[in-house]
Amino acid sequence: IKRKKRTVIDHVRVASYAFCFDIDGVILRGPDTIPEAKQALRLLNGENKYNIKVPSIFVTNGGGKPEKQRSDDLTERLGVLVTPEQIIQGHTPMKDLVGVYQNVLVVGGVGNVCRNVAQSYGFKNVYTPLDILKWNPAVSPYHDLSEEERVCAKEVDFSKVAIDAILVFADSRNWAADQQIILELLLSKNGVMGTESKTYNEGPQIYFAHSDFIWATNYKLSRYGMGALQVSIAALYKEHTGHELKVNRFGKPQKGTFKFANKVLTSWRQGVLDEHLKKLSINDPNAEEADILINEDGEEIINQAKLESYDYEDDSEDEVNNIKEPLAETGKQDKITLQLPPASTVYFVGDTPESDIRFANSHDVSWHSILVKTGVYREGTEPKYKPKHLCENVLEAVEYAIEREH
Ligand code: G3P
Ligand code: MG
Repeated sequence: IKRKKRTVIDHVRVASYAFCFDIDGVILRGPDTIPEAKQALRLLNGENKYNIKVPSIFVTNGGGKPEKQRSDDLTERLGVLVTPEQIIQGHTPMKDLVGVYQNVLVVGGVGNVCRNVAQSYGFKNVYTPLDILKWNPAVSPYHDLSEEERVCAKEVDFSKVAIDAILVFADSRNWAADQQIILELLLSKNGVMGTESKTYNEGPQIYFAHSDFIWATNYKLSRYGMGALQVSIAALYKEHTGHELKVNRFGKPQKGTFKFANKVLTSWRQGVLDEHLKKLSINDPNAEEADILINEDGEEIINQAKLESYDYEDDSEDEVNNIKEPLAETGKQDKITLQLPPASTVYFVGDTPESDIRFANSHDVSWHSILVKTGVYREGTEPKYKPKHLCENVLEAVEYAIEREH
């Protein structure tokens, strides 16, 4: 084994802990950016006194747009690069239903956006309530399709289509028509419009991207969300059939979304570390020196103990120079791609106790919930789910976590 000197251009280290942010009420309020969010994200991007980069992802119950559109928007608002791989919207885990259902009705959002998102996930036959209204406007009395709506709608004969699942992707823009259509399908024979089941158990499955009853917008008081639509549909269903409606839920605080978020966070952390290691091996005359080891096959390897100290512990004077015989010392070696251990702590910053704090508290003890006062939660009230820490805004949350770690 030979040793050769390489240079380090990136003095910023990668943290073993990570962040997960809610969006509405933490980063945004309706169309407005919460002012402290910019600085908070800059801190995590390495602009802190510890020169440490903290991997972070966003888990919002919101949706109604492609993940790429949301990440581009956040990049512009926050002044740090956010990529689609960092974004989980309420409907993102519905990707896992592709292949399970042939014909799906996607509800919510503007125009054809949710249809396009569902198709980009891989769903083949995606219909919307506008298609149904175009097929037969009498389905929802008192609603005339506007010209824009008509352009978005597909020409389909719904007396011949069996809807297998209803996927409520985003907030409904037309509760009256959407409720009428959803109820008709739930009470139908095999999801065919214009039919009625006698037993009320032949209709399609229904999935909601989340269950937030209220959410924080740029209005003074919270507004009803998708959870309120769910309550209303379940009440109508019960009134009609006498039975409880069985709904499938995604979003926070559901366990499925938690598992999905963990998968996304692991791969994002791995990506941040790989990027960091790539930079370690690039030549830069102004940079510090570091050791890279070459094995008999000429492959670059890096000692795992060294990596861990480089990437996960405090900067110390001798960190770069004190590798003597690392392989002999530890007996461990690895190629430049390293399998990451789970994040030591995941700080989850949210504004809604019922979805965010419950989500962060329920599934894994290494998640640390932080409640902020910029959204649904009102100061002075007792949150139904207690956060590990309460603070004013997202910047305070990030500062608190970084200090707690160092
Ligand atoms: O419709 C979105 C809303 O219910 C909540 O979004 O980002 O606070 O999870 P968020
Ligand atoms: Mg929120």
